[in-house]
Amino acid sequence: MAVSSVILDCLRVISWGLILAVGLVAPQTEAARAFFVFGDSLVDAGNNNYLATTARADSPPYGIDYPTHRPTGRFSNGLNIADLISQHIGSQPTLPYLSPELTGQKLLVGANFASAGVGILNDTGIQFVNIVRIYQQLANFQQYQQRVSALVGKDQAKKLVNQGLVLITLGGNDFVNNYYLIPLSARSLQFALPAYIPFLISEYQKILQRLYDLGARRVLVTGTGPLGCAPAELGMRSRNGECATDLQRAAALFNPQLVQMVTNLNNKIGSHVFIAANAQEMHMDFIANPQAYGFVSSKIACCGQGPYNGLGLCTLASNLCSNREQYAFWDAFHPSEKANKIIAQQIMSGSNKYMHPMNLSTIMALDSMA
Ligand SMILES: *[C@@H]1O[C@H](CO)[C@@H](O)[C@H](O)[C@H]1NC(C)=O
Ligand SMILES: *[C@@H]1O[C@H](CO)[C@@H](O)[C@H](O)[C@H]1NC(C)=O
Repeated sequence: MAVSSVILDCLRVISWGLILAVGLVAPQTEAARAFFVFGDSLVDAGNNNYLATTARADSPPYGIDYPTHRPTGRFSNGLNIADLISQHIGSQPTLPYLSPELTGQKLLVGANFASAGVGILNDTGIQFVNIVRIYQQLANFQQYQQRVSALVGKDQAKKLVNQGLVLITLGGNDFVNNYYLIPLSARSLQFALPAYIPFLISEYQKILQRLYDLGARRVLVTGTGPLGCAPAELGMRSRNGECATDLQRAAALFNPQLVQMVTNLNNKIGSHVFIAANAQEMHMDFIANPQAYGFVSSKIACCGQGPYNGLGLCTLASNLCSNREQYAFWDAFHPSEKANKIIAQQIMSGSNKYMHPMNLSTIMALDSMA
């Protein structure tokens, strides 16, 4: 009995190993699944370049470590989280939806609908004027599907979307560029923080439900990072380099409620459509222990000026670090490519401390068996 059950277990382990190995190799051999990106500056690949807005990253030194060494509109020295996930799933980087190059067969790779400055709420980022707010991003996704239908037919287009992977990154701006933007902001007068969070979460749920209605079936939902530890907040609010407590409290309340909402939504749908990535936990690892990740600093931005290089914009007139690999933050708000790589790696293979209900490599293996 005991021996045969051990053998059975071994066989089970071997066959799972084989299935997983095949599943993990598959993306390189077949055409990669389509990838769709929604949200804010953490994932914008350059949509704002085409808009009359101040929220842009289309001049040097942005892009200094990008393959072309030129600015692209990404708020990074190099690749952003969306690019790195494209790489992990064996896909080309998705083009900005507003790019005139996004035509013909290129549409089949997917599209990036994200726009720097947006939030969950329509009134977030109003100071940036012309940005593509989330409901407009969703409307663009619908238009995208019509364009793909015209190219490959309705059934194939539906399949492309159903089998695609979606990434949505929202929430940070609803604090930084709304609730905490100015003292006595309209939203902070309307809501105490503990009441603002459930309001945001319920609005986010409507957005996710809309994505589902538009055909999305695998959706990575990232929470917000430790907002109070960004060099901008250290520069404006911190005396001794400690993270700003109100923003830290906001992120600490937001992330678990997001995971709970995603779990409820999955239960309602009866399938693991939404996968929550706890960006707070992922960031805190290297913020608490930068040296373990090869960073000399997790407080000082590579590019900027003033305390912690946290004030104003990153431009050619700013201080610029010589080795971007040594900084967790590229500019006052955005992680460096190196930090993005750590985050993308956690999304791929992190434990359930970071990923709920499971990580992306497990999802990819499951989907390739389906
Ligand atoms: C945000 O705008 C969209 C359409 O632009 C609208 O459908 C939605 O109800 C608005 N959300 C709120 C909370 O006002
Ligand atoms: C995450 O992915 C790795 C494979 O890269 C796997 O071994 C691990 O068990 C997964 N963890 C969870 C919690 O799903």
